[in-house]
Amino acid sequence: MDQQFWDDMYSGSAQRFSGLPNDALVTEVTGMTPGQALDLGCGEGADAYWLAEHGWRVTAVDISQVALDRAAAGHPEIAWQRADITVTPLPARSFDLVSAHYFPIAHESDHATLRGLLETVAPGGTLLFVTHDPTEFPPREENSHDFDPYDFYQPSEIVALLGDEWTVEVEDRRDRNRPAAGHQIKDLVLRARRAG
Ligand SMILES: C[S@@+](CC[C@H](N)C(=O)[O-])C[C@H]1O[C@@H](n2cnc3c(N)ncnc32)[C@H](O)[C@@H]1O
Repeated sequence: MDQQFWDDMYSGSAQRFSGLPNDALVTEVTGMTPGQALDLGCGEGADAYWLAEHGWRVTAVDISQVALDRAAAGHPEIAWQRADITVTPLPARSFDLVSAHYFPIAHESDHATLRGLLETVAPGGTLLFVTHDPTEFPPREENSHDFDPYDFYQPSEIVALLGDEWTVEVEDRRDRNRPAAGHQIKDLVLRARRAG
């Protein structure tokens, strides 16, 4: 799933997603003291907008220029950045909140991309990582996209890779208020905090 894949997906419609912030973001971040936030795979920007509107200084990163052009039409105070995080390192220990919703990170034997993502969280900062529950997807041979969610890191695998300086605050499976692509697929929510 390279830039072309994602640009094609976004180009396929004038608006791909709802324009509303994700439920897990609102639930988990409401009440936190705002600081520097990284929205990884920001797409059309709804989560980044919500964070900025709630006092966070936001860097929003996506591989898709089409998505970023759409997102950057609002909230000029957000630092919009096009990058493929599998090849472009992000600044280490810089963000009080790193939020990744439905962000696909393919398994790697050295976990390099995932470790790079974890490294962006500042001391005392929070990682919020949310995926669709993979048990609710049809098997690869039965879906139209040749897509297998088990090719990508799931929250439980991330928990297994967190070192001693991390505390898992939330590891949950829950409903979303809005169905994903017409289906009520549950969210898997991981919120973890790095020691200060
Ligand atoms: C399923 S969408 C989710 C978008 C948004 N977070 C949301 O919840 O609506 C995944 C996003 O990750 C971006 N993405 C995928 N691989 C990426 C990579 N290697 N580096 C940066 N962004 C990537 C895609 O362009 C896409 O916008």
